[in-house]
Amino acid sequence: MYDRFDRNINYLRISVTDRCNLRCSYCMPEEGIQLLRHSDILSFSEITSFTAAAVKYGVTKVRITGGEPLVRKGITALVRMISDISGIEDLSMTTNGVLLKEFAVELKSAGLQRVNISLDTIDPEKFRAITRTGDISQVFEGIKAAVNAGLLPVKINCVIKESKKEPEAMEVTRFCQDNNLEIRYIRQMDLVTGHFSPVDGGTGGDCQSCNRLRLTANGKLKPCLFSDIELDIRELGFEKALMKSVELKPECGSKNETGKFYNIGG
Ligand code: 5AD
Ligand code: SF4
Repeated sequence: MYDRFDRNINYLRISVTDRCNLRCSYCMPEEGIQLLRHSDILSFSEITSFTAAAVKYGVTKVRITGGEPLVRKGITALVRMISDISGIEDLSMTTNGVLLKEFAVELKSAGLQRVNISLDTIDPEKFRAITRTGDISQVFEGIKAAVNAGLLPVKINCVIKESKKEPEAMEVTRFCQDNNLEIRYIRQMDLVTGHFSPVDGGTGGDCQSCNRLRLTANGKLKPCLFSDIELDIRELGFEKALMKSVELKPECGSKNETGKFYNIGG
């Protein structure tokens, strides 16, 4: 699918849940989170049929996100259903890694090709402070499990404030060098004010080459992270939602006053 600005829309990011087992301060408020009702969450068959429709129209890259995708019950079965769709060349997941030790092997055999794991510091105390609840040793174990299961290349997403030369980021950089992991630096973004910038080492945040559509856990197709535009795939039907969202994809993002990272998936 080509949009009005001649961008080839071939990348679908699917948020499979708005729930998370961490509470990163830049992503979720400490309390008062408005979670989706279970009845509003797309079923596995809805997600799979929608993805098949998107693939029919030219999507070749699919990423599973959240919230934290590994807290969605039956996630391995969903990965298998998606990986059975022919035409997907790249099937990946973004995870906080906490549950990867448990899931890495089964995800790999279900057809997941690779993972991105979020890690903003290697210091246990700082990790606890950022995530409010997390135990970093679980993430280290998760990273190891992903490498051993062959979910390669394992990439590390490191959220930075301003620069990749910040002390925390430098330590994560060294950790990645020592463990043969790729790293991408993501500047902390603010959806509401529209503060965003390109991902260093990745492809996000560059409007001119943006090839993405995002599907939220409750079935809203979003052509841009920094826009309030969304098309309901249940109301419109899969193909019409796809066509409209490509048609309406803005040239460049501005701001998003309705969405949150934990329900759009970053
Ligand atoms: N700015 C930048 N990245 C964010 N993420 C979550 N919230 C933000 C934010 N405010 C990232 C996480 C993770 C991915 C799911 O989204 O670090 O890598
Ligand atoms: Fe959870 Fe990821 Fe948000 Fe942290 S950034 S609270 S791990 S969804």
